[in-house]
Amino acid sequence: MQKLIIKGKRELSGTISISGSKNATLPILAASILANRVILKNVPLVKDIFTMAELLNFIGLKIKFIKKKKIIEITNKEKNINTLAPYKLVKTMRAGVLVLGSLLTKYRKARVSLPGGCAIGSRPVDLHLFALKKLGAKIKIKDGYIIAEAKRGLKGTNIKFPSVSVGATENALLAASKAKGKTVLKNCAVEPEILDLILFLKKLGTNINIKGRTISISNSKINQPNISHEVIFDRIELGTFMIAGALIAKNSLTINKINPKIINSEINILRKVGVQIIKKKTSIIIKKKRNLKNINIVTKPYPGFPTDLQAQLMVLLTQVNGVSKIKEDIFENRFMHVPELKRMGALIEIKDKTAIIKGPSKLTGAEVMATDLRASVSLVLAGLVAENRTIINRIYHLDRGYEFLESKLRKCKAKIRRV
Ligand code: UD1
Repeated sequence: MQKLIIKGKRELSGTISISGSKNATLPILAASILANRVILKNVPLVKDIFTMAELLNFIGLKIKFIKKKKIIEITNKEKNINTLAPYKLVKTMRAGVLVLGSLLTKYRKARVSLPGGCAIGSRPVDLHLFALKKLGAKIKIKDGYIIAEAKRGLKGTNIKFPSVSVGATENALLAASKAKGKTVLKNCAVEPEILDLILFLKKLGTNINIKGRTISISNSKINQPNISHEVIFDRIELGTFMIAGALIAKNSLTINKINPKIINSEINILRKVGVQIIKKKTSIIIKKKRNLKNINIVTKPYPGFPTDLQAQLMVLLTQVNGVSKIKEDIFENRFMHVPELKRMGALIEIKDKTAIIKGPSKLTGAEVMATDLRASVSLVLAGLVAENRTIINRIYHLDRGYEFLESKLRKCKAKIRRV
């Protein structure tokens, strides 16, 4: 099994380019079922994307990767379509459940494996099914599969989500994209990745308006044309490298191929901690750390501080002066990095949903284990700032979502290698 070995305390300098967003690419790939031919650009070459491509291929679409150019071409010739998402593909990548909305819209039926829980919580799909039922789908659960049908097609309606969910909003958008009449979705997630999906659906001919957390879809004329779309940058990868810069930049670290306007809350929080950030049009410069301060934050749906950056921020807070608190308000079990960080010398206590971090603490290298995607990258950050050598096991989690992580860091003088 592969491991990462990091020799810590090497200051970072240079420029890092941010890849396309995994979390935007996944629903757009699911939406590609609705088109004839799609050319998707700025696609991150990470495991979850390959798994989604495999799923589309299983369904009957033709997939061509042009890896050098970060392009995927998807063609739907409507031959041998299989409206099934099998367990073996959905279990490793929960976003597989997003094909449900597209398959129901286009083929009026779908059989999609229930994704089950994962390390960070039980992660149900009740909100996805709630929206699809309201749009007129008949749904039953049998043998671990969601069996959905809409013999006469889906019908527009008003839906108010009882709580905000990224995946449920995406599935509802895909299902409503061709529904008869008007659909109004209230209390939606409005993450930048969802706005990217909406941009893609608009190119498909879907008429969509968005106001606050309300999204209306009406009079859509999906004519399945050829679509070309460039995926938005990965704001979580950006946030991760901003924190890396805040922890251990030599003088400064430049991060480019981004739009700083999209990550205002992350910038504000890091500035409150005392991180010096210079915003440019398509890049950000992080300055060497000086006297960082403690902070209390709560993870929230966008535009709040993202749960996907909670573990990385925690590493930064181990290095600031004073006691900080992070309340994890999205997932029930997302502190699995804490025992590993404590083994490296971090002073962290968990009380219910809140992590209490005492800083500054001296981190020293240890052998640690990655448990999920973002927890893994927090251990990489800890390894970069720790004394001596850190060995990270189970790094397949990292490969699910971070493109060229080691080579990007090595280019900035980090000592990191895979064995
Ligand atoms: C997406 C992101 C993930 C991110 C999360 C929150 C992708 C591929 N993944 O995951 O990286 O951490 O948003 O920003 O984009 N919930 C229910 N019932 C449902 C659906 C969700 O109770 O039917 C709960 C979840 O258990 C969780 C909360 O709602 O507690 C938010 O989850 P959700 O926004 O749906 O996350 P995902 O779409 O799974």
